[in-house]
Amino acid sequence: MSDPDGGDFAASVLEGLSRKPKSLDPKWFYDARGSALFDAICDLEEYYPTRTEAAILRAAAGEIAPLIGPGAILFEPGAGSATKTRLLLDALDAPAAYVPADISSEHLNGTVVRLRQDYPGLRVEPAPLDFTAPIVLPPSLSPAGIETAPITVFFPGSTIGNFAPDAARSLLRRFRAETHARRLLIGVDLIKDEARLVAAYDDRDGVTAAFNLNLLVRINRELGADIDVDGFRHVAVFNAAHSRIEMHLESLKAQTASVAGQQIAFDAGERICTEHSHKYTIDGFHALAASAGWAGGVHWTDPDRLFAVLLYESRRDPEA
Ligand code: AVJ
Repeated sequence: MSDPDGGDFAASVLEGLSRKPKSLDPKWFYDARGSALFDAICDLEEYYPTRTEAAILRAAAGEIAPLIGPGAILFEPGAGSATKTRLLLDALDAPAAYVPADISSEHLNGTVVRLRQDYPGLRVEPAPLDFTAPIVLPPSLSPAGIETAPITVFFPGSTIGNFAPDAARSLLRRFRAETHARRLLIGVDLIKDEARLVAAYDDRDGVTAAFNLNLLVRINRELGADIDVDGFRHVAVFNAAHSRIEMHLESLKAQTASVAGQQIAFDAGERICTEHSHKYTIDGFHALAASAGWAGGVHWTDPDRLFAVLLYESRRDPEA
């Protein structure tokens, strides 16, 4: 396998399933089927973030592009299908390179092929990497040195929501320190009516349920496990105290499964937490970004204030 996960998957799953309460890292959702299911989620009526963010970017690209400036190197951690990137690439003044990074190298390869077709003049330099580990950009990107290259980190989709505030702060700090980025353009899902939030993570057609349950299918296939996938159900709840949607897999019965050679017991009704998706206010996110050394925040939002796109500059002092 060419994915950068290697043996980490087994260790991470066993560690998560031996916790109390049990949990699994959402980064493992994105095998080929999971990535395809996520793309299907983005097209759902109930899943407003993708559509709303795209509309914001479409409307604001003309304002954003001059703020980023000419000759930019765009680095996108967790690029997936890079659909929204196109809105930005179309508006930017002669971008020097686009560096999509993704944990699923299969998904990345398809994305790169399509982008090169549609942007023949653009240098596309894929980086198969897990951005939760230290990020090393290809040195060839900038012969004069990455330190001085005009790098903008593009982190759309509210992927930052998967991280609890402390972890989000260190991730945003690492984006600055490890890529020497000058700018950060980031998409963030906003706090809103609870029913609307829950519906976005528990759609009528069961696509999100299939996406969540696919994690068990992946564990069975890749770790030689025998989890009874039909013995679990998808649950999505809003945790107001932590301002986050939580997705869980709930065991419908008491059961034991063998996972990578270990016996794992589940009580009836026991839940595995598979994802946290944190929601912010614009001011709340500005404060978080500031604490990670990202200053001068400007934002764009939709008329219903469902979602925000925010642009920051790296603070000059390197210790920040
Ligand atoms: C890709 C993490 C932004 O939290 O909304 C969508 C993932 N999970 N539906 C999100 C997801 C269930 C998504 N992020």
